[in-house]
Amino acid sequence: MIADATDAASGSFTNPAIRVAGAPGGIPEASDFELCDAQATEPGPGEVLFRSLYMSIDPAMRRKMPSPVEAPAPLGGQIAVGDIMVAGQTPLEHPLFAGHAGEVIASRHPDFAPGDFVRGGSGWQTLHTSPGELLMKLDCERSELLDELGILGQPAFVAWCGMERVAQVQPGETFVISAAGGAIGMAAGQMAKIAGARVIGIASGEKADFVVNELGFDACIARDREPVEAALDRLCPDGIDVCFDNVGGNVQRACFDRLRDFGRLVVCGMAGEYNAPEADAGPPLRPVLRKRLTIKGFVVYDHIDLYPVFRERMAGWRRDGLFRYRYDIAEGLENAPGALIAVLEGRNRGKAVVRLARSAHDGL
Ligand SMILES: NC(=O)c1ccc[n+]([C@@H]2O[C@H](COP(=O)([O-])OP(=O)(O)OC[C@H]3O[C@@H](n4cnc5c(N)ncnc54)[C@H](OP(=O)(O)O)[C@@H]3O)[C@@H](O)[C@H]2O)c1
Repeated sequence: MIADATDAASGSFTNPAIRVAGAPGGIPEASDFELCDAQATEPGPGEVLFRSLYMSIDPAMRRKMPSPVEAPAPLGGQIAVGDIMVAGQTPLEHPLFAGHAGEVIASRHPDFAPGDFVRGGSGWQTLHTSPGELLMKLDCERSELLDELGILGQPAFVAWCGMERVAQVQPGETFVISAAGGAIGMAAGQMAKIAGARVIGIASGEKADFVVNELGFDACIARDREPVEAALDRLCPDGIDVCFDNVGGNVQRACFDRLRDFGRLVVCGMAGEYNAPEADAGPPLRPVLRKRLTIKGFVVYDHIDLYPVFRERMAGWRRDGLFRYRYDIAEGLENAPGALIAVLEGRNRGKAVVRLARSAHDGL
């Protein structure tokens, strides 16, 4: 039944996976990961066995890795050396927040049949035996499956939640977005443009040109080529109305210091701090009073009610040609550590994913 099967008699199958080999002190290295066998079992009653075709790579995976020091990691540390690396929400409570998109191989759940496309699963492995309740059936063609981890999946939905529930950007406002060429940044910046804002990105490498030339941002600060503070002074001489921050650290501080009266700091993520042993102290609070600022964090898990609205809106934007997106696809599970390291070093060119397998329909 399972193409990768080596021990069909026992009902379990080899299932290449990646586990944590070491607790990184900063940005992980290739030696902090190792290939292993996670095994997969035939589905029991109510369960589904699926093969992941794409796995999402997210900066928050780093937060879940163990800390090299005895004390609990300040920003996470949910798994230990020897554990399989995890993708998506951990533990998984809703399939929208899972780490994989794939194809059902075998099912003992009435809602799923072989050949169905699903979102689900969390380990860095190809085969997943999952309760049907933790799978979402995807109504898509195979060619669109990737979008379920990107423009129609969690990253763009995170952007939508931050824009709708927190930023509430107004036409003519100055909107600054960090990690502008990343999975969430590409989406949030375009949403702000559609809302009528003047959009300034902050990114490194060729992404700074990409978001202006291909996504229509008004400008982008290349943080590896110019000090962010000086560039913000040049591009936002009257200050910033909304900073949608994905990275924390000194980029966040530079934006915070330039918020106008009634400005909003939307705290979406802290990708620039996930490799540090301690959380950054954060900005001082006196300007919050003086400038009547709002600082608000949000987590996508609290906004699942918005998902149908988001899907409908995104479908409309794409039909109207208003939205573009790109993926940075690594080939093969063995390249997943490199893909995560690239994201943490800012070398991803778009939404990072790993292609784990081809569809059974491809004969592979
Ligand atoms: N609030 C929520 O519900 C929620 C849900 C999911 C994810 N998130 C968070 O949202 C953020 C963006 O996630 P994503 O998936 O879209 O990642 P991403 O933007 O595709 O990749 C992370 C980017 O962060 C930037 N970065 C890394 N280290 C940095 C540093 N030291 N200083 C400044 N920038 C740095 C890099 O962009 P440049 O090099 O181009 O600047 C890198 O490409 C992450 O912090 C993530 O944890 C939040």
